[in-house]
Amino acid sequence: MEQEFILRNEEESRQFAISLAKRAKKGDIYFLYGELGAGKTFFVTNFCQELGVTDYVSSPSYVLLNEYDAHEFTVFHLDLYRLGHAEELLELGITDFTDEGLVFIEWPQIAEELITQERIEIYFEIIDDHRKVRLIDRR
Ligand SMILES: Nc1ncnc2c1ncn2[C@@H]1O[C@H](COP(=O)(O)OP(=O)(O)OP(=O)(O)O)[C@@H](O)[C@H]1O
Ligand SMILES: [Mg+2]
Repeated sequence: MEQEFILRNEEESRQFAISLAKRAKKGDIYFLYGELGAGKTFFVTNFCQELGVTDYVSSPSYVLLNEYDAHEFTVFHLDLYRLGHAEELLELGITDFTDEGLVFIEWPQIAEELITQERIEIYFEIIDDHRKVRLIDRR
């Protein structure tokens, strides 16, 4: 399934995240693509709020991995922008937790070969002062 949306402002981006969060299930894996500032972390923050996460959701670009408790499962939030080698992903235990909760991966290119589960891909694009998103559900 492939869909495209134009999100004209932050509120529309928030509603987009909420609509997906309402269908979230343990084991879902989101690959989030797009340039710096395109809205990947913004998406995760609003998605997590809808899931009942009360922790502050921040960009894991230095720590690589954040974990949050949602109502029904754990959320794993990765940002692989600074990751040098795919082997470091194995050290993080990535292949262990993909079934244990819901996973978001910003800058997922380096994980594409390693994570074999079917996933949901979102491509964020900056267009003038709004955003275009392409959603591809490969499950
Ligand atoms: N539809 C929209 N229109 C305009 N601005 C938006 C829209 N949606 C989100 N934004 C803004 O875009 C910015 C996105 O920043 P965010 O940190 O989410 O980017 P990112 O993709 O995670 O970047 P990075 O690659 O650095 O992690 C936020 O400041 C947010 O408020
Ligand atoms: Mg980010």
